[in-house]
Amino acid sequence: MNSNSDVTSRTVTALGPQLRRRKSIKHMVGEAESNSGQLRRTLGMWQLTMISVGATMGTGILVILGAAVPIAGPAIWISFVIAGVTALLSAVSYAEMAGMVPVSGSSYSYSYATMGEGIAWICGWCLVLEYAVSVAAVAVGAGEYVNQTLRTFNMELPVSLAGGPAEGGVVNLPALIVVVLATLLLVRGARESAIVNTVVVIIKAGILVFFSIVAFSAFNAGNFEPLLPMGAAGVTAAASSVFFSYIGFDAASTAGEEAKNPKRDLPRAIMLSMLIVTITYVLVAVSAIGAREWTWFVGTEAALVQIVGELTGQPIFVLIFALASVLAIASVVLTVLYGQTRILMSMSRDGLVPAVFGKVSKRTGTPVAGTLITGIVVAITAGFIPLGALADATSIGTLFAFALVGVSVMYLRKRQPQAPRTFRVPLYPITPILGIFACLFLMSQLGWHTWVVFLIWMLVGIVIYLGYGRRRSRLGQLSKQDYIASHVGENQ
Ligand code: ALA
Repeated sequence: MNSNSDVTSRTVTALGPQLRRRKSIKHMVGEAESNSGQLRRTLGMWQLTMISVGATMGTGILVILGAAVPIAGPAIWISFVIAGVTALLSAVSYAEMAGMVPVSGSSYSYSYATMGEGIAWICGWCLVLEYAVSVAAVAVGAGEYVNQTLRTFNMELPVSLAGGPAEGGVVNLPALIVVVLATLLLVRGARESAIVNTVVVIIKAGILVFFSIVAFSAFNAGNFEPLLPMGAAGVTAAASSVFFSYIGFDAASTAGEEAKNPKRDLPRAIMLSMLIVTITYVLVAVSAIGAREWTWFVGTEAALVQIVGELTGQPIFVLIFALASVLAIASVVLTVLYGQTRILMSMSRDGLVPAVFGKVSKRTGTPVAGTLITGIVVAITAGFIPLGALADATSIGTLFAFALVGVSVMYLRKRQPQAPRTFRVPLYPITPILGIFACLFLMSQLGWHTWVVFLIWMLVGIVIYLGYGRRRSRLGQLSKQDYIASHVGENQ
């Protein structure tokens, strides 16, 4: 290991090579193994699957129909299939990478092993958009659903506590409380968090299945005609908007260092969660259109709960739905926050974010300080700051990170064809190529203002890297011998 002054002089003089410098898989797995003495390996296949389903199935499906059906018409279910196939094409790439590089950094780590530090940082910065920013945006919905629950008892939160300043209030107290509770649970332990999450996922999947059964009871095939009143363009535009509801299936890939058998279970959990989510969403979309004409959805905010209320005529079901929605938000917050803390932990191990994010408590086996800092920042953001514009950019950042995973798979298949893989992308190379194009296509369908927000976000990330990570990168501190030794056996 070189002295810090050597490191600084080398890292500040050669930006190009530093951006391209790759971290070896062997090195990453070694680090993760030595780290597993601190983090606890408690998660089995079922819990990993539930982490991914928990992070994915949330506010999106509960509220998105009101915005997406008017764009696509009755063919909204095709939009869900397109978004689901896009997510699935990326999921298989995630599965291959997670089986090969079972560490906590998810696509950030995969990019570091393939495209180098520069792209890895960009990817990690996009993941902050996918995880921390989206979770704050998701939590904001909590105020609305807590009020919906209270209304069934003829009560309501005061305006000042039901929304932040942008909504005419002072603070979105329910959002703040949900984030604080999730943070405290995460501090307590990954296993405890996974148990609570599993219970909540069963409840939220249960109410979506219940919705489909109720809606199918009023099924009218005539509602599907004409199928494309808004044309094919409407269907693809809606696909990019419903893609938000698929974000999160990759959360299991952040649990590589807490899984009991990560190489075997991570790929399975990612694939299984995608299947569960896609089938449930398409069922919900088909049954909802079967129950109501597409024009009915224009301007609805909580279409599913409204349909259940109208078809059953039972306020108790409205109450159950509203309560389950609060729980659904809570489990997205829990699992996505979990993922963010683990990604930051990997980034801090590499020196790209402060070391405090990587300190694991011996007592709880969790990154306590990093979890508390992340939780506090997200809680304040969710409670006080309007996130509309940034939330739109969540999908674009996620799609970009997903495309990078496809590139990572192709890179490693070419450079390290013999490396052991516990899951292989089927129909290679067609699948990752299609996956990359599907992500780029959905990115192109998002509005220009979303692109502007995204580009500003990227610029901020680049400034942070140049001002902080570039000088502190640990990979830059490896001596030449260490660096070569860590890549031995890998086809450079
Ligand atoms: N997919 C997550 C949700 O729909 C972000 O809430």
